[in-house]
Amino acid sequence: MYYFLILLAAAYLIGSIPFGLVVARLMGGPDPRESGSRNIGAANVYRLLGRNAGAFTLFGDIMKGTVPVFLARCGLPGLDGWHEAAVAAVGLAAVCGHIWPLYLRFSGGKAVATSFGVLLVISPLAAATLAGLYGLAFKRWRTSSVASLIAAWMAPLAVGLLGNPKVYLLLSGILSGLILWRHQENIIRLCRGEEPELAAGELRSP
Ligand code: G3P
Repeated sequence: MYYFLILLAAAYLIGSIPFGLVVARLMGGPDPRESGSRNIGAANVYRLLGRNAGAFTLFGDIMKGTVPVFLARCGLPGLDGWHEAAVAAVGLAAVCGHIWPLYLRFSGGKAVATSFGVLLVISPLAAATLAGLYGLAFKRWRTSSVASLIAAWMAPLAVGLLGNPKVYLLLSGILSGLILWRHQENIIRLCRGEEPELAAGELRSP
């Protein structure tokens, strides 16, 4: 039980690491919270600083979900049949850290990459399916938020159809809801036809 509680707290603190901000600072770029979509995620860092910065941010944000959930899955003792629920709770804690980061006064990102990192461990096949769906949607519309929203919307379906435990289905539903909620501004821009397509370094200062 102690190990579970420690892992839960660690997952939240790991999820709180704002990789987008760290990468932008290390690369001498602008604060992603003040430029572009004002999000700390990989899409905005890619928009502001280009391909490498976006890729580093994406990798870091995915790992924030993957590492704690992997540790929970492999390391948590029996917990009398509560193992999967405990793993799901650790995943949710990591995503909550990304959305409400301790280090940024609880104002964080949109949870797409970190949720994907969680799914990578609990259902790799669902994660691969959703990544493929994201890729197809992005190829069609060239807009990160559209691809994220479609993948998030489909996540519970993919997790459910692939025969995962009910608690993972519940987790994917919660993550999906959080992602849709965090994309409110994108959805408004999409409805107005004002959501920009995504291009590497398009907002990079000269
Ligand atoms: O992962 C976030 C993405 O779906 C939208 O990001 O910066 O275009 O609002 P952004």
